[in-house]
Amino acid sequence: MTISYDIKNKTALVTGANRGIGKVIVETFLEKGATKVYAGVRNLNKAEPLIEQYGDRVEAILIDLAKPETITAAAQQAKDVEVVVNNAGVLKSSTPLDIDALDSLNYEMEMNVGGLVRMAQAFAPVLKTNGGGAFIQLNSVASIKNFVPFSTYSASKAAAYSITQALRDLLSEQGTSVISVHPGPIATDMGDDAGLTEIAEPPSLVADSIVTALNNGDFHVFPDTMAKQIEAVYQNFAENIVEANIMES
Ligand SMILES: NC(=O)c1ccc[n+]([C@@H]2O[C@H](COP(=O)([O-])OP(=O)(O)OC[C@H]3O[C@@H](n4cnc5c(N)ncnc54)[C@H](OP(=O)(O)O)[C@@H]3O)[C@@H](O)[C@H]2O)c1
Repeated sequence: MTISYDIKNKTALVTGANRGIGKVIVETFLEKGATKVYAGVRNLNKAEPLIEQYGDRVEAILIDLAKPETITAAAQQAKDVEVVVNNAGVLKSSTPLDIDALDSLNYEMEMNVGGLVRMAQAFAPVLKTNGGGAFIQLNSVASIKNFVPFSTYSASKAAAYSITQALRDLLSEQGTSVISVHPGPIATDMGDDAGLTEIAEPPSLVADSIVTALNNGDFHVFPDTMAKQIEAVYQNFAENIVEANIMES
């Protein structure tokens, strides 16, 4: 079932809200009429620029994916949240043949996949209490295709995409829309670290595409030029396998 959802007059929470894509998501939600956004940050001071700009429509909230107790405490604090965006993520440039491959893989799996699982476990009951709402996960085109030299990151994003599919099925029972966002190269610190500066596109494309997907009730979101190229070929598989209930066909 497709659920249309308007960010206007909603209360949202965004992890990794102090810079990059997360910060632009916070700004976009507020500009589109969200009542309030909890800015999930590892250090509360990092939310100051957003609070200076938007006043009490932004509340800083401590969320460090490496410290699971901060996630459970945040779910206690943000009891009124209706839209959760798990945006925080980490990237190491490692291939399977690099000496540090397993260290990178373990770290990325812990943050990018473990972080997602912990966020979903903590916030699913809150979303249910508040009428269902939406849970949005920042995945990647690297969830679908492995990119050298950030192969271990790609593997973690593939795993996160798989978990996101499970959440879509599980949370539909409580009326929560789940959205899987798959950006290509985006102009942020991570984009620079991955060597994508030359081909990166603005983070606003990602934030705007999330607002549109909420309105349209879409599961998959492909915001930018490279992502849309992949979507053009992947769409058939996405609709007929990933989004379909093939156990019943
Ligand atoms: N940029 C791209 O090209 C691209 C493409 C596809 C998908 N994505 C995904 O989009 C999301 C945002 O990426 P971005 O480009 O905006 O990254 P970024 O510029 O590197 O920013 C990462 C954000 O995540 C936070 N973070 C890092 N480790 C954390 C932890 N342990 N706990 C909580 N927060 C943590 C950072 O906080 P601090 O400031 O405290 O470090 C920062 O706010 C990620 O999930 C990424 O995988 C990015």
